[in-house]
Parts: sequence; C-alpha cells; structure tokens
Amino acid sequence: MSGAPFRLAPLDAGCDRAGFNSGVESLDRYLREHVNQDVCRRVAACFVALAEGRRSVGYYTLASASLLLADLPASIGKKLPRYPTIPAVRMGRLAVDQMFHGQGLGGALLADALDRTARSEIAAYALMVDAKDEAAAAFYRHHGFIALPDSPFTLFLPLATVRTRAE
Ligand SMILES: CC(C)(COP(=O)(O)OP(=O)(O)OC[C@H]1O[C@@H](n2cnc3c(N)ncnc32)[C@H](O)[C@@H]1OP(=O)(O)O)[C@@H](O)C(=O)NCCC(=O)NCCS
Repeated sequence: MSGAPFRLAPLDAGCDRAGFNSGVESLDRYLREHVNQDVCRRVAACFVALAEGRRSVGYYTLASASLLLADLPASIGKKLPRYPTIPAVRMGRLAVDQMFHGQGLGGALLADALDRTARSEIAAYALMVDAKDEAAAAFYRHHGFIALPDSPFTLFLPLATVRTRAE
C-alpha cells in the first residue's frame, strides 16, 4: 500500500465513522454504534485507518482469547505444552470501506494487527479470527492463516512466524 494516504491509529472520539460502508451492515453498525461501549468496558480494542479529514475507512478489533489445544492441527499441537488452552488474541472484526477495497488496505490493517500483537509484552501464541464466510476465510488463508481442522472458519496464525517492524 505504498504512498496511500492512510494513517492507522487507535479509535478515538474524533474519528468520523458516520459514512463507513464496508458492504456488511453488521460490521458498519458495530463501528458506528457499538464499538465505543466495548472499548470502554475493555472487551475490545479498536484501531482505525483514517483518510483525510479523519474519515474512518477501515478498522479492526482485538481482544484476548484462547484456543483449545485439542482443536489445533495435530502437527502443531504436539509441539506445544500440554495445557488444555493456548493463549491467543482474537481479531473479532476487520472491515474496509467499499470505496477502498482492493487497494491493499485490508492487508495493511491485518499486518498492523499482527505487528501489534507480536510486539505485545503479554504472550500470545497466535492471532485468531472467526471468518464470517468463505470469502473472508480465503482472505485469511491468502495471508498464511491456518484453519482449525474441525472448524474451517476459525483460523489462526502463529505469532512466532511474524516478523515485527523495526522500531
Ligand atoms: C476482506 C477485506 C477486509 C479485504 O480488504 P481489501 O482492502 O479489499 O484487501 P486488500 O486489497 O488489502 O488485499 C490484500 C490481499 O488479499 C487478497 N484478497 C483480498 N480479498 C481476498 C479474498 N476474499 N480471498 C483471497 N484473497 C483475497 C488480495 O488479492 C491481496 O493479495 P496480494 O497482497 O497478494 O496482492 C474487505 O474486502 C472487506 O472489508 N470485506 C467486507 C468485510 C469482511 O468480509 N471482513 C472479513 C472479516 S470477517
């Protein structure tokens, strides 16, 4: 997304969200009407891509989560400690305004989420997502995410494989 006029930042009261339209009404309504409550209650953190005039043109949310060891592919699970659950961070939502689809912004938001999660001092094994449909799952697989064998719309990417940005 070289040269694109976007800035990624934590959501704040000055972000203009009124016209956000990803093509998925539930994701749009969440950004307009519900995300503030989740952020205030610390059940989600939200990061936005801002275009000129502080217009929100993309966003994602992060929250702590866990994966059941037994749900992971056997080849991965056998390399992890025998704890029943493995710590993870869930990217609960990811959406880009339709006017900006196909310009690299979704990939940039995902890279930002991975970088932010991999840099955290709080350990997590993976970034996980619940894809809402096959197209979303394909987007995540394209970026290296691995589907749970019995739940193909739940995907994860081990953070040890993520190269964080230089300070
Ligand atoms: C999914 C979504 C976030 C992608 O955003 P985007 O800005 O259009 O995607 P990008 O332009 O950044 O694409 C990045 C890469 O992913 C690929 N890609 C995009 N959508 C894809 C899909 N559905 N399947 C496979 N690959 C896909 C692109 O070809 C591109 O590949 P490249 O880097 O090798 O050239 C966007 O389409 C969206 O907001 N959709 C509606 C909400 C949604 O489905 N959210 C998913 C979370 S459940």
